[in-house]
Amino acid sequence: MEKTLLRGRVLNFRREPQGPEDTQSFDYFEDGALVMAGGVIEAVGPFETVSAQAAGATVIDHRPNLLMAGFIDLHLHFPQVQVIASWGAQLLDWLNNYTFPEEMRYGDAGHADAMAGAFLDQLIGHGTTSAVGFCSVHRGSVDAYFSQAAQRDMRMIGGKVMMDRNAPEGLCDTPQASYDDSKALIGKWHGRGRASYAVTPRFAITSTPEQLEMAGALAREHPGCYVQTHLSENRDEIAHTLELYPKARDYLDVYQQVGLLSGRSLLGHSIHLEPREIDALAESGAHPVFCPTSNLFLGSGLFDEGGLRARGIVSGIATDIGAGTSYSMLQTLNEGYKILQLQGQALHPYRAFHWITRGNAVALGLEDRIGTLAAGSEADVVVLDARATPAMALRMGRVETLAQELFVLMMMGDDRAVAQTYVAGRAMKPANRG
Ligand code: GUN
Ligand code: ZN
Repeated sequence: MEKTLLRGRVLNFRREPQGPEDTQSFDYFEDGALVMAGGVIEAVGPFETVSAQAAGATVIDHRPNLLMAGFIDLHLHFPQVQVIASWGAQLLDWLNNYTFPEEMRYGDAGHADAMAGAFLDQLIGHGTTSAVGFCSVHRGSVDAYFSQAAQRDMRMIGGKVMMDRNAPEGLCDTPQASYDDSKALIGKWHGRGRASYAVTPRFAITSTPEQLEMAGALAREHPGCYVQTHLSENRDEIAHTLELYPKARDYLDVYQQVGLLSGRSLLGHSIHLEPREIDALAESGAHPVFCPTSNLFLGSGLFDEGGLRARGIVSGIATDIGAGTSYSMLQTLNEGYKILQLQGQALHPYRAFHWITRGNAVALGLEDRIGTLAAGSEADVVVLDARATPAMALRMGRVETLAQELFVLMMMGDDRAVAQTYVAGRAMKPANRG
């Protein structure tokens, strides 16, 4: 089998860093290497040791750049690639004025296919090798998403949005149609290559109770699938939800009552939570997902990462394209850092880079496959250049430690700092694709 050896400064997290001094939580090889074969990482370690055991491998020298596991984005919407940067609205108006009209276009399979390809190339260009995505209500959008991902051999999770009210007619399904379509798509895509399915009721406002029951049934019938939805993003959204579901104890209860809450549930935003909701998250093992650029852009509020972590809740982090304003997980950390600063919480770069790699993989239960460079894991690798722009190069002149370099990358970096992205062992950054 053909082998490729990447040489560079290798950084790989083995567990979540507990603080700035916790250098035991990761391996760092100043002159390091990893060997990829058949889409998998075969060996990782110091260059001298690894290269001695990899005779005949094609060597690609990425020094002095950093090699890390590819980034994982835990929440985004691929049919919103042309909604990013839509002016002036908060959540509900933004959905009605910009997003729903745009998602109507994804009934056209050709359009969905073109946009899915462009979207995945953007992810790769920004160093993201896996993501959990909402498609549109249309079945064809899911086929586009997973078939374009398969062409790139990306590990992607996603699902058809289920929505049957409070949206334009052309964007609404019915409880039965959403169940049937989702079921068919699970049969077609879940476990095929690197694809996994997520049962995807959009959020409480756009589903009738009957539809959420159907979503709960799908989750029960397919325990290997994920569940993704939105929770407590915006105060008007919460008020409207409680009007629509007067018997619910709180917003989360709407999902909990129909069996949508488990360790495989990914709950976008989860900002304005009641104490009972936090208890239910902790008990169920569900994962709130922090979407910093989106939360600032829509003026939604400040995610309490520290408070949730203190309760043992494992949160993910994500771009939330297209309310999010950047595909870059580096820029997502930048804005996330600032949101936590406003609450007196400091996100150390070790924990930040763990979060966008192994941390998000842990939320998915996939930490043995992605988010890691350990031998045996899938060969998704990002190559980071902390001197990618003149301003970064200038700043790097004063940098002495790995932690400082990582912090420069997360505050100043974007796709320009991604020198290359390997997906399942292949160099895939669009400019470099042959
Ligand atoms: N809540 C329901 N749908 C959406 C969406 O598309 N984006 C965001 N940010 N919140 C939502
Ligand atoms: Zn979202």
